[in-house]
This record gives sequence, C-alpha cells and structure tokens, in this order.
Amino acid sequence: MAEVIILPDARAAGELVADAIATLVARRPEAVLGLATGSTPLPVYEALRSRLGGADVSRVRGFALDEYVGLDPAHPQSYRSVIAREVVEPLGLDPSRIRTPDGRLEGIEDAGDEYEAAIAAAGGIDLQLLGIGTDGHIAFNEPGSSLASRTRIKTLTSQTRADNARFFGGDPDAVPQHCLTQGVGTIRDARQVVLVADGRRKAEAVHQLVEGPVSAMWPATALQLHPHVTVVLDPPAASRLQLAGYFRETRAAKPAWQGL
Ligand code: PGA
Repeated sequence: MAEVIILPDARAAGELVADAIATLVARRPEAVLGLATGSTPLPVYEALRSRLGGADVSRVRGFALDEYVGLDPAHPQSYRSVIAREVVEPLGLDPSRIRTPDGRLEGIEDAGDEYEAAIAAAGGIDLQLLGIGTDGHIAFNEPGSSLASRTRIKTLTSQTRADNARFFGGDPDAVPQHCLTQGVGTIRDARQVVLVADGRRKAEAVHQLVEGPVSAMWPATALQLHPHVTVVLDPPAASRLQLAGYFRETRAAKPAWQGL
C-alpha cells in the first residue's frame, strides 16, 4: 500500500516534499525530476526556493507531465510558460535541461515518442511529483486511460476543462480540448512517486487512489502497483479515507523516500 502522510495543511505538505527533493538533489546533483503543474505543487516549489538556495542545481534535469495541444508555447498558460515561471526561473534551473511535451500542431504525431525517448535518454525520472484531478486523473490521463499508456494525445474531460477554467479567465471553452500527456505507464516508470493533494474536492479521488480497486476509471489507482509511492495530504483531502486513523498512527518517522 502507498505510504500516506497526513499533515496539518498544504504548506506543511509542501515543506516535507521540498525537503525530499532538496535531499535528492544534494545527493545526486544530476537528479531527474518529474515536474507537475496546477495549483497543488506551488507550495512545494515555494518551499524549494529556500531549500535549494546555494545548492548546485546546474545539472538537475526536469520533465513536465503534460502540455496543452495547439496552445502557443509563449501563451502564459502553456505549461512550458508555467514551468519556466514557477519552477525554472525561481529555482535557478538550467532551462536547456528542463523539457515540456511539445504541443505544437506541427509534428504532433511524433511528439509523444520523442518525449519518451528524451526521458529514457536522461536515464528515467528519479522523483515524480504529482497532483491528482477531481476525476482521478494523474497528469492528463483521464478516466478510461490505459494503465500501461505512454506519452500521447488525450482529450480533456469537461470536468477537467471546468476545473482549469480558472487559468483561462473562468471560461471552460477557452481551455484547450486536447493535451499531450505522459502516460500512466510512463509515470509508473519513475523510481519514486510523490503525490500531493489538498482540499475536500480531492477527497473522493484520494479515497479511490489509496483504497479503491485498481481501475482505468480512476487512473491514479494504478499507483497502487508502484513500489515507491508516497501520498501527502491535508485533513480535508484525507477525509474520505477509511484508514485515515491507521495512517495517522503508523506514520513513519521518516518518509520512505529518504531511504532512496
Ligand atoms: P490542481 O490540479 O493541482 O490544480 O488541483 C491537479 C491535477 O489536475 O492533476
């Protein structure tokens, strides 16, 4: 079962995960990080600023989970722009070592395979940071996604477009319809997965992820098959866990990732 850690709030969660990433980078300066976008990872990146301050991050590599298809890479809400603004610039990473799937229409048919090849050439992802959608998606693997899938084009559900409308002036129709996303199989290849969720809206997806049957209807449940997954929650996100009390009592003194 995934290691589940319930902390008082999103800030505490961000600090714990930032500690894990900073420890990894200190031990392995050429670490390959899997970078997530959305609101959830922001406290992680915020906490990382002080933890990585002064560290040599010049060799850190990074791969984003996904990108909108057909959105100008220079658009402020392209994930290429978001990763540059929220991760690369504040943390002082080398932009040439950080990649996002190429969602431009020209050459899109090969973009998934090229992204997979780039991850493989980097030696695979050491630590993949993840959020979770209210519909149970990880990256943009919406319900019904193959649990063995690789980076490919997917159609966003109306739920996800409504969830992400806040980044597009509140208009779900302004959210692109398609994305290029790492597959569930791609994510499962990461050596360590750290999924963060906060808020009651995520409670059902978190319950399914941790306690539900493995099912393509809740793609995050595929993480139950991964040997090194840590799920970091605030109390509202943990509110539907039947085993919440058990997780609180058995919380490891040190998250398992610190032994990696
Ligand atoms: P959020 O998105 O962090 O903005 O809630 C998570 C996700 O869709 O994976």
